[in-house]
This record gives sequence, structure tokens and C-alpha cells, in this order.
Amino acid sequence: MTARYVLTGEGFYFVGRFLSVGGVHHGGSVSVRAFILVSATSVSVLFIMAAGSVFRAGLFNHRVAIVTGGATGIGKAITAELLQLGCHVVIASRKSERLEAAADELSQLISSSSSASITALRCNIRQEDEVRNLVASTLRLHGRIDYLVNNGGGQFSSPAANMSVKGWNAVIDTNLTGTFLCCREVYSAWMKDHGGAIVNIIADMWRGFPGMAHTGAARAAVENLTKSLAIEWASSGVRINSVAPGTIFSKTAMENYKELGPVIFQMAVPCIPAKRLGFPEEISPAVCFLLSPAASFISGATLKVDAGQSLYDSVWDIPDHTAWPEPPEGENVGALRDMVKKLKPKL
Ligand SMILES: NC(=O)c1ccc[n+]([C@@H]2O[C@H](COP(=O)([O-])OP(=O)(O)OC[C@H]3O[C@@H](n4cnc5c(N)ncnc54)[C@H](OP(=O)(O)O)[C@@H]3O)[C@@H](O)[C@H]2O)c1
Repeated sequence: MTARYVLTGEGFYFVGRFLSVGGVHHGGSVSVRAFILVSATSVSVLFIMAAGSVFRAGLFNHRVAIVTGGATGIGKAITAELLQLGCHVVIASRKSERLEAAADELSQLISSSSSASITALRCNIRQEDEVRNLVASTLRLHGRIDYLVNNGGGQFSSPAANMSVKGWNAVIDTNLTGTFLCCREVYSAWMKDHGGAIVNIIADMWRGFPGMAHTGAARAAVENLTKSLAIEWASSGVRINSVAPGTIFSKTAMENYKELGPVIFQMAVPCIPAKRLGFPEEISPAVCFLLSPAASFISGATLKVDAGQSLYDSVWDIPDHTAWPEPPEGENVGALRDMVKKLKPKL
């Protein structure tokens, strides 16, 4: 049986049956991740990946990074890679328990000879005073901030016509204003006088973001903000770039969309030229590259990490309709009508 997923103006529909199972196996010194999809008639292993950095050991020794949303998903993979490369990482988000659990888990991966460290600080990026505290605490702890990764964010799926102002504002406040506040505070408190590098995580919103219009608008705005700041802060030696992920699977990302989560991720697969989902460990190297000296001449740019998804198909289904305005009368419309009349008997 072939499962079919349809996204329309009314929401998401799933036709068919499937069950998804995620698994992690620790074998020897590498961690192997496998994502398995089970449909009614087939089981397919979509992806297997060994985690590990391609960058040289010690690349970020004695550097200090703040990663918002660094306890889960994409942010956790970025944090793990920065730690592996010797960085001091401060992870920040709203849920203390998740932060502490991630800091405990990731600290186990730091070898005794490494200069790296991880610290968890609670911070809601929507709150100006909390962002100020995050930056001040990081400076008290480490005395510098070399890198900022604006990864913390979230959204919910809804046709735009059904969005309340409260829901709209919540997404804009987090994904746009939160990113702005983190940039501004890190710049004012440290990077203005010392330089640094910032990476903003945005999204595949190049053809709009039907079904999540709020986040599309916020991420497009962050892309533009990135360009403005690249110019305004160039004379401080600040580089700022964006990374635009395609559809990236993690357990936490899927759970954000509740019961729709599996459907949203599964329906994306046919629209991805790679014919599989992306994984957080495939976003992290792009971020590390943009933070690193290898990107010393790159600022105001956006790196799409989406296997070409932004060039390809859309999950949004436009049903057949006759609602569109009629075209202007003229010889070409007449010619088309004649052609359709001639074709019809054959159909
Ligand atoms: N997965 C994808 O396909 C995809 C594609 C494009 C872009 N993105 C974006 O990439 C980023 C990471 O997403 P993910 O897929 O890794 O999902 P995730 O695991 O849910 O990560 C989102 C993180 O953002 C944090 N966060 C949310 N609101 C926050 C706030 N107000 N203040 C501080 N932190 C906040 C969350 O932590 P708390 O709940 O503890 O606050 C969480 O750690 C998000 O901005 C997401 O929208 C994801």
C-alpha cells in the first residue's frame, strides 16, 4: 500500500497507515543513528549516520559560544560538535530540566584533555531582561563571547486564516524578536569591541511557508536582519550569516507538532531530492564552518542545507478549482478554447 499525505487550506490529512520508529545504537566509539519507517507492507531504514566532526581537533579551543535551544535537536548537535572541537558552550532555553539533562549527557563526551566545557543557563529569548542576564552570566563565567548561534525557536502548523494574533505574535516574538535581542545584547556587551561570529538558523521559506506563514515571515525577516547587521557591524569585525535547513528530523522537532508530527515529517520526504529527511548532525557542520576561520570572508550570506528541497516540490496541495478570475478575451484565449474543443473528443 502506498501512503498518501495531503496538506490543504483546511489542514493536514493522512491517507494510509504508517508507524515510525527511531533508534539509537552505541557501538564502539561511534554513535550510530538509524531511522526506520514501517508502513503496512514494508520496512525501510531511511538513514544511518555516524556522528563525528570533519573539522580538526582543537579548532575552537578556548573559544566561547552561546547556543540558544542548545539542549535539543539541531542545537544539541551544534553544541556536541563545538564541544568536540574544544569550545566552551553555554546552552540556553526555557526548560531547565532539558538543559540540565543535555549538559550532563554532553559533558560525558568531553575528554579529560579537552579545554571544552558546557554550561546550561535558563533563558527565554523573548524576554529582554533574560537575554541580558544570559549574556552577562556568560561573560562573568568565561570573560568573552566569540560565537552566537541563534537556534532557539518554534512554531505550530495552521492555515494563516485560522491564526489568532496571540499565536502569530508568539512565533514572531520568538523567531524574529528573540533572535534580534540575542544579536543586539551579544554585540553591545562584547562583540562591538572584540568582534565575533553569529549564525542564525532560519528555514526553507524561499517560496513562502504555506501552513506555517508566521514562521516563514519571521525567518525571511531574520534573513534580512542578517544582511543589515553584516553591514552595520562589519567595522567591529563581526561576521553574521544564516543557515537555512530543509526538513530536519529529531524526536523533539517531531513532538513539537504533537499528533501531526509524524505526518509532517513523512509528507516532506517525496519533496526532498535526497528522498530522505535531514538530520541535526548534517546542519551542525555548516554552522561550525561559518563560525570558523574557513569562513573569514563570508558575511551576510545564507547557506541552504536542504539537499535541494527549496528548488523542488511543495507539500501544499492546491485543490482543482474554478475560483480564479477569467483571463482577458482575445485571440489567444480563443485559440486555447478551439484546441480544448478539438482535444475533448479524444479524452
Ligand atoms: N527541524 C526542522 O525541520 C527545522 C527546519 C528549519 C528550521 N528549524 C528551526 O531550527 C531550530 C531548532 O529546531 P529543532 O528542529 O532542533 O527543534 P527543537 O528540538 O524543538 O529545538 C527548538 C529549541 O528551541 C528552544 N526554544 C524554543 N522557544 C524558545 C524560547 N522562547 N527561548 C529560548 N529557547 C527556546 C527549545 O527549548 P525550550 O523548549 O527549553 O525553550 C528547543 O531546545 C528552531 O528554531 C526550528 O524552528 C527546524
